[in-house]
Amino acid sequence: MARLRTAVLISGRGSNLRALIAACAAPDFPAEIVAVIANRADAGGLAHAAAAGIASRVVPHRDYPSREAFDAALDAALRQAGAELVCLAGFMRLLTAPFVEAWRDRMINIHPSLLPAFPGLRTHERALEAGVRFSGCTVHYVRPEMDLGPIILQAAVPVLPRDDAERLAARILAAEHRAYPLALRLVAEGRAPVVGNRVVLQTEPPAIEALFNPPG
Ligand code: GAR
Repeated sequence: MARLRTAVLISGRGSNLRALIAACAAPDFPAEIVAVIANRADAGGLAHAAAAGIASRVVPHRDYPSREAFDAALDAALRQAGAELVCLAGFMRLLTAPFVEAWRDRMINIHPSLLPAFPGLRTHERALEAGVRFSGCTVHYVRPEMDLGPIILQAAVPVLPRDDAERLAARILAAEHRAYPLALRLVAEGRAPVVGNRVVLQTEPPAIEALFNPPG
């Protein structure tokens, strides 16, 4: 079985990267991680790549005079790794439109809210301020507009009365670690095609059922 050659881009601790690495360790998983790229040398997630024996690389955004130059370096690193799909996993840099278009429908992102609610930063604080009763996470194909694009999967979790941003973030992160591997599987199996502006999942409900209400 040919496995989809996947690169993961990170900026920080890399817990989603770790979840993806764990999923890819299963022999029947349809994707493999061929490269981990960080824009910061101090990204904690680089240790997860090293522990798994995955090639990693730092492309420090500060070394480049413009977003265009940085994205060109990223693009070169991805092509050098032979990446067929890019997973953004806590990658906190805005990408230029030409870069995003070059990877159209071949780049996915995870965001810790039920998009299109609360894109951007301070997600959990804003969810609490808005008084929503549910939040969650979204895995979506990347479009030039930040945290927007055809939705592959969402997982919902309750917002509880005594939540602060930290408690809510932790509950959502646990859901992220289940959602991202499943989304990667669906994409790698060709079961999450973009039709118009939406993803039409080619799957029966049982496969994704648990994600709509993952156990707390
Ligand atoms: C995750 O919660 C992810 O959803 C979020 O950053 C965190 C990274 O954690 N991404 C965004 O906010 C993107 N807009 P991790 O480094 O432990 O995976």
